[in-house]
Amino acid sequence: MPTTTQQPRIDPSPPTSPQMLPPPRVGTVGEAGPLVVTDKLTKTFGDRDVVNDLNLRLERGTILGLIGPSGSGKTTTVRLMAGLLKPTRGTVTVFGTPATKLSARQRGMIGFLPQTPALFPELSLRENLNFHASMYGLPLRRRKRIKELLEWVELRDQKSTRVSDASGGMQRRLSLAAAFVQDPTLAFLDEPTAGIDPILRAKFWERFRAMAGTGKSLVVTTQYVGEAGECDLVGLLSDGELLLLDTPDNLRRAAFSGEVVDVTLDREPTDAELGAIAAMDFVVGDSIERLHDRQVRIVVDSAERSMLDIGAALSSVGLEARDVREHKVDYDEAFVRVVERHRQQRAAETPAEANA
Ligand SMILES: Nc1ncnc2c1ncn2[C@@H]1O[C@H](COP(=O)(O)OP(=O)(O)O)[C@@H](O)[C@H]1O
Ligand SMILES: [Mg+2]
Repeated sequence: MPTTTQQPRIDPSPPTSPQMLPPPRVGTVGEAGPLVVTDKLTKTFGDRDVVNDLNLRLERGTILGLIGPSGSGKTTTVRLMAGLLKPTRGTVTVFGTPATKLSARQRGMIGFLPQTPALFPELSLRENLNFHASMYGLPLRRRKRIKELLEWVELRDQKSTRVSDASGGMQRRLSLAAAFVQDPTLAFLDEPTAGIDPILRAKFWERFRAMAGTGKSLVVTTQYVGEAGECDLVGLLSDGELLLLDTPDNLRRAAFSGEVVDVTLDREPTDAELGAIAAMDFVVGDSIERLHDRQVRIVVDSAERSMLDIGAALSSVGLEARDVREHKVDYDEAFVRVVERHRQQRAAETPAEANA
């Protein structure tokens, strides 16, 4: 049995899940400033930095999406933030307090969805929620809130099903409802949309957005890169490193260092002509790429502006643009590019004799 985390001190005995938060009390805290701050946050397992020098701030009313492939350190980051793991180096503070030293009152303001549900198998879905609510000392309007949450995760009709008879997906949905039972100020949600159908996923994001709209903050991990667009800030994780922390739009820009336009020419350009275009002012960093015989891809500062100028620029080198269109970079493409570029940089910095 894991020994690194506290168990809730409650009766009846809770399930022995290492990811369950200790029982808090409800209260309000009016601190200003960021809700979560990490400073060089590092977690090492064995000799591996699973989270490496992570620096970020989470402001109020913000959704931070932690996006990265399996094994990139999302769960470890969230568990460090929730105070379930101790940093090896660096710090993480929540409400201005080190995450492992939060008071019961502060914990009462945090909702937590572990990657693996922590539920009582013998209790029904509704009883589980009820239990969570009682842990948070939620006496008022509890029935109404539980009913509403069960409806939200579309489990109302299965509320009497025992957890042991519920599917994995149902358990995840129930755990998400449980994370919100006390109306948290701050929520850590570890893959809330994994394995959830797209319609329900959209509904989940709608509620997350609504919560952020009322000044609450959420840290949401996901492997669905496309969900970046739902976040205010995206943190791209790869091998325990935060490669980028920025708005979704800037993530797309960062992938190419600008916006991307695809230009179809009247004929195939020579290499010399391509070079001449690459050297033009509106082309970012000499970036031009042959897509097909007559089609080239150019990175520009502003696609909109260059659409207007590109015709004249090309005719100055004897070419004619037949079609100019912006290539909208999707998040998957952006993600792959940023991660690949980082790996190449890493490889370039680490010559063969490394490992010292
Ligand atoms: N308790 C642990 N002991 C040893 N290695 C761990 C432990 N927890 C996670 N890891 C390793 O840390 C890496 C990151 O894991 P995790 O944070 O779960 O990533 P993600 O949630 O992005 O899939 C993985 O390689 C995983 O095997
Ligand atoms: Mg994980």
